[in-house]
This record gives sequence, C-alpha cells and structure tokens, in this order.
Amino acid sequence: MCGIVGYIGQRDSVPIILDALARLEYRGYDSSGVAVIDANGELLGSKAEGKLANLTARLRDGEHISGKIGIGHTRWATHGRPSDANAHPHMDCSRRMAVVHNGIIENYAVLRDRLLEQGHTFTSETDSEVIAHLLESNCAAGGDGTVTERIEAALRATLRELVGAYALGVICADDPEHLFFARNGASPLVAGHENGEVFVASDTPAILQYTRKQLIVHEGEMLVVSANGWKLTDYDGNPVHRQATTISWDPGSAEKGGFKHFMLKEIFEQPTVINETLAGRIDEQGDVRLEAELDSISEDLLRSISKISITGCGTAFNAGMVGMYLLRSLVRVPVEMELASEFRYGDPVIDHGALTIAMSQSGETADTIEAVRIAKGAGATVLGICNRLGSPLTRVADATLFTRGGPEIGVAATKTYVSQVTAMILFSLYLARLRGTAPLERLREIAKNTSLLPAAIDVLLNESDSIRAVAKSMRKAHSVLFMGRYVNVPTALEGALKLKEISYIHAEGYPAGEMKHGPIALLDSSVPVVGIATDGRVREKIISNLMECKAREAPIIVVANYGDTEVASFADHVFWVPKVDEMLSPILNIIPLQLLAYHIADLEGKDVDQPRNLAKTVTVE
Ligand code: G6P
Repeated sequence: MCGIVGYIGQRDSVPIILDALARLEYRGYDSSGVAVIDANGELLGSKAEGKLANLTARLRDGEHISGKIGIGHTRWATHGRPSDANAHPHMDCSRRMAVVHNGIIENYAVLRDRLLEQGHTFTSETDSEVIAHLLESNCAAGGDGTVTERIEAALRATLRELVGAYALGVICADDPEHLFFARNGASPLVAGHENGEVFVASDTPAILQYTRKQLIVHEGEMLVVSANGWKLTDYDGNPVHRQATTISWDPGSAEKGGFKHFMLKEIFEQPTVINETLAGRIDEQGDVRLEAELDSISEDLLRSISKISITGCGTAFNAGMVGMYLLRSLVRVPVEMELASEFRYGDPVIDHGALTIAMSQSGETADTIEAVRIAKGAGATVLGICNRLGSPLTRVADATLFTRGGPEIGVAATKTYVSQVTAMILFSLYLARLRGTAPLERLREIAKNTSLLPAAIDVLLNESDSIRAVAKSMRKAHSVLFMGRYVNVPTALEGALKLKEISYIHAEGYPAGEMKHGPIALLDSSVPVVGIATDGRVREKIISNLMECKAREAPIIVVANYGDTEVASFADHVFWVPKVDEMLSPILNIIPLQLLAYHIADLEGKDVDQPRNLAKTVTVE
C-alpha cells in the first residue's frame, strides 16, 4: 500500500527519493509524488497518476525540481480515486509545507469542515490533505523557540487532533534543515543515518542500499531529522532513546538477480528459505528447540493451553491452515481457524487458556493486528509467526517465531508461504514434545524429513519448463478449480489464490469432498480441474473425486507422486513430486502450482510482480 520516503543530505534528493520509491513499488500503489525545498528555499512538488515512470517522465520533461531535502510518496487510493490531484505530497494554502501520509485519518470529514469554515482551500478529495491545513493552522498560532521547535509544537498539536492509524512525513519551507515524521498505529517508519545523510522510509528495503543500520520508529513517536542525525520523542516531546538495528538482509536480496520477475526468483529461493527457517532450531537428537526464542511464553503455559486459534489473511491464512492440521494431528488440541477480518467482528470465544497464533509475513496487516489486540484483550496468549523484525505484530504478540524468508517483493507470496508452513511444522513438533502427545521417534523423524525438503524442492524447480508447457494449454481458461483434501485443502486454496492474483483467471480452491455440493455444476470441457492426489489417507478419495470431474469432461491436471501409474492413466497432465510424509506434503505440492500460476500469468503478459488492485501489505481494514 502507500509508501513514504524522506531524504536530507548533500546530494540532490530527487533521484534518491525516486530510487527508494521504486523499491516500494512492490507494495502496490496507483500514483506518486515528490516535494523538495530547493536552493532558493522554495517548496516545489510534482505528482503523477499511475506508475512511478509517469512521475519520472514528468520530472524529466518539464517539471524538473531539485533540492537537498525532500519527501516522496506512492499512494494506494482509499479516499478519492487515483489522480494527480489526489496523489501526495499535499500542501497547505500558503504552499509552505508538504505532507505525505500512509493510513487513514478517520475524523478527516469533521476536520475538513472546520478548516473549510476557517477559509482553507482544499485541492484534493483525500483525508490526508487535512493534515497540511491543520498544521498550517497550528503553525499560524505562533509559539516560542526556534522555527524547528515551533513546527514541532504545531505538529504535536496536529497529531493530538488526528484519529486513526497512520505514518506521516512533513517538510516546511521555513525550515529547510529538518524533516518531521510521526507514527501512530500499524504504518511502519524506519530511518538510517550514514555520513551526513539521513534516509527515512516506510519499509526497510526502500533504503537498504543506502544504509543497513535502521532505527525503527514505534507507535506514538515523532522523529525530527537533520543531515546530522535525528531526535526521537514521544508525542509529548519526551526523549526516546533507541539504537538503530543492523538489518541482516543483503541489499542484493531485493534485486531480481537475473530472473525475469521477482516472483520467479522468490519461487527459486524456497529451498534456501526453508534451510534458513530451520537453521539452529533442531538439535543433534532431532528435537526442535524454540524455548529461547519463545521465552516470554513459558513452557508451563504452553503445556496448559486448552485451545489454539489461528488467524491471518490471504496466503498467511492458508499457511496457518496447514498448521491447524499439523497441530491437531501431533498435539491433539482443539484448533480453529478464523480469518483476521472476521475475527474482529465474529465474537470469537477466547479465554485465558487459549493460544492465538497470528500469521503475517509483513507483521503489518491491519486486520491481523486488530485480531491480536482482541485476542489479547480477552486474555489469550499470542504467538506471532512473522517475517519482519520490529513490525507491529512483533510488538503486540507475546512472542514471535521469525520465518527468516528475507524480503519478498512479488505481491503474490511464495517463499514466505513455505517459510510460514515450515515455522508451523517447527512449532507443532516443539509443542508435541513439550506436551508428550506424540512418540519422540515420530517427531524426530518428521524433523529429519523436514530438513530434506529443500533438496526435494530443488528437483521440482527443474520442472519449471515442463510446467510452462501445461500452462500454455490452460492460459485461455476462464475458470480453474483446485481440489485437495485434508492437509492439502490449504494447498488447493493457495494454488487457486496464486492463479487468480496474478493471471486474473477465476480460480477456486475447494475441499474435494464438497465438489458435489456445488462446484461440479460449473464443470465442462472448458474448466480445468487441478487435483492434489499425493500419497496419504485421502489419495483414493480424491482420485474418485477427480474421476467424477473427468466424467464431466473437465481437463484433469494432478499433483501426484512419481510412479503413480493409476493417476497417469486418467490425468491429462501430471505434476510429479517426490513422496514424503503426508504432513509435509503441502510444502512440495504447492511448488508446481506456484510455477503454474507464474507461467500462465507470464504467458498472458500480465504484471506478475505487481498485479492490478493488489497490495503487498494491507495496512487498512
Ligand atoms: C496481501 C498480500 C498477500 C498476503 C496478505 C497477508 O493480500 O498481497 O500476499 O498473503 O496480504 O499479508 P501478511 O503480510 O499479513 O502475511
């Protein structure tokens, strides 16, 4: 969703801001803009609807601006359609200050009416513009101290009036030496300081090529930045002392590295990501050791939990569902799934004996964070499964198990899905050992087999070209059905989600047993059915379901284990995968489905990494 960038230093800020905004493109956006204070102390800006390339062209072809201090923004429309006027930065009436904003100002209508009455003129339909005018109004009230102190005080007064979750950045022509930032709620903000330059952004990868030491701004904090560093305070002006964190991600990991798309690169990174997620978490005996990482959730507490509820959105939810089957099977504890967007309004029954597991790659998804707050409010213990250090989820959860997936740039999640499933395998094995709910040998065997998955995925990735050939036969389909049972229901859901996200072909994931209660009505020779029929307790059942589809002339594509001649005898195409423990099969079975979705979208010339209307991180409800 929206992205914020700020720069101050000795270089022209515009190319740096554009470069950093380009690294935020993956989050999804529909317009962009930049504002600088130039050498004459003038505040100048430029904005453009559409891709960042439109802004770059505009800056090159007539609206050239430069300045050693500036802010930039990519906007994902909430209030007001995507347009030049609604793009950020927004300026006040005097055009002395420019504001960029992520999130939603919930009371903007009241504030706007009041400001209109006071004579302010608005030029956009956004909620964000009220911030610029409110700040102008509060600055006009005067005050004591230096110009910087007066702007700070006016910003504090402004923040006190804003309701909602947001991050924002301000530059003011009256003070060309400082940038002002504030954060309230889920929208992140990080800042890095290197050799007389400061870079600020709403996401780590945006400024990783400039600095790996990044300060994480927390909720309810204000950051005043100069070329020599920063001052971090709470909203009341009390100093906050926090060191910058060194980000271990390699800046190159957010580059395409020779692949046509980030998504393809990230699919190919999956063996490495599983190895990373497992590293140091299985001891020499083959036991999973998480006690140090989860130390704020005591072993006694984990032994006593009476129920687990798993929540998340999108792909994270699907990964959580694999976890549900693992926990039920290995820990024999009641486990329920609830979409985070439903959790908040669905009257979930939670008490002190409950453990809520919140799955989120970004740790920023607004619905997931709210679900966690509700669960905690009801007395539950919360475990976050998350990829992002310092993200809001890590701060509200009682403990976090990190997935170590590295930066994922493609909007369609792939490597973070397998890393989340891997984390769920680890947690299930850990909990089962603590509670003694499965034989130790069985748990060790699963742990050992998990560590063999990366090599198996390497083999599957070699099949990318043959999967592309199948994709050619499916690329014109209007609808595709994905079917799985038991632990591969989430694989079917995730396979369908990948296809619809990036190819815009309608796709549904379904528990195969439910086919006869509806979806079978859709079938004819134009609707391919993808079934997951690898070895395990439901293989025969799903084969029967696939035969029912074949009888309706649907083309049949099956994920099956090498050597399954029965499947080969009736399927139109088979994606072969190695045989593994059924509980681990979702990790292998999703690989061909990710590649299928990728190749169909690529063959159709779709914007694979930034599909229309979607955002990598959904920070609004
Ligand atoms: C968006 C992304 C998905 C992601 C979902 C949840 O919809 O496009 O790829 O699965 O949000 O995101 P999270 O960061 O909470 O895992």
